[in-house]
Amino acid sequence: MDYFIGVDLGTSAVKAMLVSEQGEVSDEVAKPLSLMQPQNGFSEQNPEEWAEQTTRALKELIERFPHDAASIKGLSFSGQMHSLVLLDKQNDVLRNAILWNDTRTTAQCREIEDVLGKERLLDMTKNPAVEGVTLSKMLWVKEHEPEIWEQAATFLLPKDYVRYKLTGRIHMDYSDAAGTLLLDIVERTWSRDMCEAFEIDPSFCPPLLEATDPIGPVTEEISERTGVSRETQVIAGGADNACGGVGSGILQEGRTLCSVGTSGVVLSYEEDGSKDFGGSVHYFNHAAPDAYYAMGVTLSAGNSLRWFQDVFAPGESMDEMVEGVEEIPPGAGGLLFTPYLDGERTPHADADIRASFIGMDSSHGRKDFVRSVMEGITFSLKESVDIIRNHGREISSIVSIGGGAKNETWLQMQADIFEADVIKLKSEQGPGVGAAMLAAYGSGAFSSLQECSEVFLQVDRVFYPDAERRETYRALYGLYQNVYEQTKELNNRLKEFRT
Ligand code: XUL
Repeated sequence: MDYFIGVDLGTSAVKAMLVSEQGEVSDEVAKPLSLMQPQNGFSEQNPEEWAEQTTRALKELIERFPHDAASIKGLSFSGQMHSLVLLDKQNDVLRNAILWNDTRTTAQCREIEDVLGKERLLDMTKNPAVEGVTLSKMLWVKEHEPEIWEQAATFLLPKDYVRYKLTGRIHMDYSDAAGTLLLDIVERTWSRDMCEAFEIDPSFCPPLLEATDPIGPVTEEISERTGVSRETQVIAGGADNACGGVGSGILQEGRTLCSVGTSGVVLSYEEDGSKDFGGSVHYFNHAAPDAYYAMGVTLSAGNSLRWFQDVFAPGESMDEMVEGVEEIPPGAGGLLFTPYLDGERTPHADADIRASFIGMDSSHGRKDFVRSVMEGITFSLKESVDIIRNHGREISSIVSIGGGAKNETWLQMQADIFEADVIKLKSEQGPGVGAAMLAAYGSGAFSSLQECSEVFLQVDRVFYPDAERRETYRALYGLYQNVYEQTKELNNRLKEFRT
């Protein structure tokens, strides 16, 4: 039997997952990652820790592997998007990575729009200048840390840095490069116009390839440290959302994904490079060759529930905290939550907005709050579903993965709020399985990702919208959509009190 490894480099942990050629996840090792938030809006991680924890995870996985390590034919990656890793001439890390959910770069986003004009920016990149994108982080370093910027010889994204540490080779794949705002996503080259406009030397941008392209083996040193065989092919890998798409079978038009990780996304497969969403959602290259996806992002999805757990249920597991939430009726007794803990991306693109609980009364208990957090996250994701629907894509079913798919009440809530059938997969592992599928296809075990998905992915259960709850949620969603405008000004005034 042949095996494949998918490494999923997230924000809270890195997971190494061993998957058999029949698509069974036979083992998994997760290692936590630390997050630094030195100021409100700042979010950083140490790239060396990513590499170190990945190496440890691989070592443990191989130690437990009962067969010859050479039967692991391929290893690939899924990685958190956008986060900037700056390297000097010796390829040493110059500063902590500035992460995808860091919102310090609002001024740089306005600068990008001013230099190019919003329309030209969309013509060139198909994406808006939001605080997440890597280019805004580069401009911030250039302005605030010129001594570091001067030493910077190249940049990478998180999983590219880890791959470099494992193989000694520097590359970036299209699905991740699309999130930098420097890629011409249709031509699949670094955009000369974008680089010129922001004085970025073409040599600063790493060589590009497909997520399914082979890179070569791990270095001898890494092979000795981890036990990964030099016969195992390392395959480039892709952006976590693209890999989540691959790992959920979002490989043809009409397929849509909802994923709740630290962030939450709604993503629909697209084939047409000329499709125009006017910057209302991202339009990125897929990890599947020659394909795209449209995607809306809720910045604090799983993160909102985890925040609630940390603050109001310390010491309890997530399962304990959400237990009994199904007994609370839709609407949580008139309690409404907006998940803007760290600002919001889709549909508001507003780094300054903050979260609210509205409608609290003395009858509310903790379970009402938990339910309203789950509902608020789902309403936010519904706004992305709506945008994609409004641009002509029919969405009658949605594959759900991540934290949102671990709880059946939440899956039913998604079906009722999205007004679509919600599909739960059998071993639902999203980006990690997607990375293992890139490894399997990229190392030649399957003739297409589609063929691989037919072997690897099976439907477990489908949740159908309930007519009565759908009506209740329609009414609540209308109210939810008012909260942003109603609290925007207030939040701007509260901003000066943030620490
Ligand atoms: C997507 C985004 C997040 C990260 C999370 O644009 O910023 O979903 O990819 O890792």
